[in-house]
Amino acid sequence: MKGKFIAFEGCEGAGKSTQMRLLSEYLERRGVPHIVTREPGGSEISEAIRKVILNGKFTSMADECEALLYAAARAQHLADTVGPALREGKTVLCDRYIFSSYAYQGYGRGLDMAFLENINSYAVHHFMPDVTLFLDIPPVLAFARKHGADKEDRIEQAGEAFHKKVYEGYRALLQKYPGQLVPVDCSGNKFQTHEKIVALLKKTGVIG
Ligand code: TYD
Repeated sequence: MKGKFIAFEGCEGAGKSTQMRLLSEYLERRGVPHIVTREPGGSEISEAIRKVILNGKFTSMADECEALLYAAARAQHLADTVGPALREGKTVLCDRYIFSSYAYQGYGRGLDMAFLENINSYAVHHFMPDVTLFLDIPPVLAFARKHGADKEDRIEQAGEAFHKKVYEGYRALLQKYPGQLVPVDCSGNKFQTHEKIVALLKKTGVIG
């Protein structure tokens, strides 16, 4: 793979979209070829799976089904979108990847971590980003920034206790995967956070 693969993680409303847009503009100004994509989704089939996973009507979806659908969407996204872009030498900015499954389905839903590692390793053939940035902001603050949870979205509706567990899960994952999952302090404004991200990516050699 020639291109660099950067994933963004965080709780709902942590500002991932804004930071991905600012980084995309930064790369654009420097003439770095890149794509911006997201999970679940980012390809025709994966976007169709996304509609099933997030559908607010499917309240009885089994946690195992949810985890397998995220992994399935990820496999297709890698095959259709991420893999081809990286082979063309493009930088890939991806909104969420495997650590979302560990944080939400593992720590949030309480599914067995070995099961999640197995299905996800199988889905992506152990393929991991060059770096995954964790936008570190607790869920209460994050929801306040985005003015509350979306009523149509099954995961956003999962409740405050669930989202607290997800955040604590991310904090545990930072300890478990140092260097792979890297925290970004989001206490400043969006431009300050952007500067931190650029500095971090330069330091780790992910961008020039
Ligand atoms: P999205 O609207 O993209 O949320 P956000 O803007 O916060 O990224 O919806 C994606 C939702 O799916 C989000 O609530 C997190 C959840 N999710 C998982 O639970 N597991 C996963 O593996 C992924 C990729 C996402």
